[in-house]
Amino acid sequence: MGSNQDGPTGPDLTQGISQDQVADGGSLAGQVAGEGVLLARRGDEWFAISTACSHYSGPLPEGLIVGETVRCPWHHACFSLRTGESLRPPGLHDVSCYVVEVRDGKIFVPGAKVKPARRSDSRRTQPKSIVIIGGGAAGDSAAATLRREGYDGSITIVDADADAPYDRPNCSKDYLAGNAPEDWLPLRPADFERTQRIDRLRGRRASELDPVARRVRLDDGSTLDYGALLLATGASPIRLGSDVDSGKTPVYYLRTLADSRAIIAAAGNARRVVVVGASFIGLEVAASLRARELEVHVVGSEPLPLQRVVGPELGRFVKALHEEHGVVFHLGTKPRTVGAGKVTLEDGSELAADFVVAGIGVRPNLELAESAGLKVDRGLEVSELLETSAPGIFAAGDIARWPDPHTGERIRVEHWVVAQRQGRAAARNMLGNGERFAAVPFFWSQHYDVPINYVGHAEKWDRIEVEGNIAERDCAVRFVRGGRTLALATIYRDKESLEFEASLEGARPQPEIVL
Ligand SMILES: Cc1cc2nc3c(=O)[nH]c(=O)nc-3n(C[C@H](O)[C@H](O)[C@H](O)COP(=O)(O)OP(=O)(O)OC[C@H]3O[C@@H](n4cnc5c(N)ncnc54)[C@H](O)[C@@H]3O)c2cc1C
Ligand code: FES
Repeated sequence: MGSNQDGPTGPDLTQGISQDQVADGGSLAGQVAGEGVLLARRGDEWFAISTACSHYSGPLPEGLIVGETVRCPWHHACFSLRTGESLRPPGLHDVSCYVVEVRDGKIFVPGAKVKPARRSDSRRTQPKSIVIIGGGAAGDSAAATLRREGYDGSITIVDADADAPYDRPNCSKDYLAGNAPEDWLPLRPADFERTQRIDRLRGRRASELDPVARRVRLDDGSTLDYGALLLATGASPIRLGSDVDSGKTPVYYLRTLADSRAIIAAAGNARRVVVVGASFIGLEVAASLRARELEVHVVGSEPLPLQRVVGPELGRFVKALHEEHGVVFHLGTKPRTVGAGKVTLEDGSELAADFVVAGIGVRPNLELAESAGLKVDRGLEVSELLETSAPGIFAAGDIARWPDPHTGERIRVEHWVVAQRQGRAAARNMLGNGERFAAVPFFWSQHYDVPINYVGHAEKWDRIEVEGNIAERDCAVRFVRGGRTLALATIYRDKESLEFEASLEGARPQPEIVL
């Protein structure tokens, strides 16, 4: 999904518009000095903020207004209409907020901007120092939130990946396809952490955690004491066993920017690639390498790609979409061996390969938590406040298994937006906010020009309801259990996706299911 590059449209709001042009609860897209401005009305109150989302510049006028917020149609960032504050990731910063004047029944946005206030609450907890292990999606979001919330103590991020923080989802999409330059990938401006007094220890790994002494040991032997700690160590790709990988053909995995660079370099000298795993990552890699004109074969153990997550109807569509772009599937099978220049499948058939990319799932990085004696059960167990079994140690992102109020189950997901939102919530709770984490899970995936958005969480369902037409790329697919829609996958039905998210939050009634 690219950025929204159309120029601003709609009336010049410096000249004023009639009040009647916007109904109560409605909004209008206009412009001020060449900038897009969303004007919204709530009763007698008027709000004006930028039209461009601070993630990938998604068009906020096409989003959903819920109370005093607007949600972005592309990946569900949420902004305050009153202040422009980024209330929920993936928005990376606040958007501009404008003064609105009402004169003689007309509404004007003269152009003056409102400066958002920095929060500071002396009644809250102020741990002496905060250490964050893992500065990816969750860790970065936590550090930025701590400063935003007025925390003044020291913040240290320890991250094994010297390139972090960057836009990890892009590593399998536009960047890998050659459609996005590397300078689009950093999440923050180069001086962000310096100006925010966030100390990042790059390329450093935490190797030991002592929850009683409140101390972390790093791989160079140095130690850090903490008042509160966030574990946000993410996940690592599962590797092919040495029984399968003979070491005679390069096998790549994709988790980091360095991995993505390595695949790009390999693609430059190759003609044929075998992707093992018809997962989201495997398929996004397949699409990106087709864009680089490689011959791509995908080997997957499921009968249809993504079937376990999005069901057979969307699975069939995704398969056909990739086939239209020249991908060849080998499904219901696994590689027996990766040998010299070829992959041999279980039935003995052989696929020529200059290199292999394996996307067969990830494992949460739990070693540090396990060795510190924290409670681990298919993920690091956290409370509804995202605190682990050790007081003062919080967890967020791919490692955390939390009590999800929407399903009533403990769940662990591997979604960018969830990791960022948990980082934010954990940061606020480190400062004593006592905020229950109740965000509705959301992820997106991109295949060529087709985005799939998924809201909610359904590991099992009794039936799938398809509204619209999947083949025509205009659909909403409901995953229903016990008469309740647990999750909704959409293609080009962004408003419905946002409405469903709001309904799970209780901010909107759940849409009726028509049988
Ligand atoms: C290629 C790719 C594409 C993706 N696309 C999407 C998408 O389209 N949509 C979506 O919703 N999700 C997507 N995801 C998933 C999403 O990126 C993850 O869910 C998210 O990054 C998890 O955030 P995190 O903070 O838990 O972990 P990460 O972002 O992985 O950050 C963890 C960090 O911890 C560091 N670390 C680990 N152990 C240690 C240690 N002991 N000491 C110090 N540092 C340590 C790692 O180096 C890493 O930088 C994608 C993932 C990948 C790999
Ligand atoms: S562009 Fe707005 S959330 Fe991604």
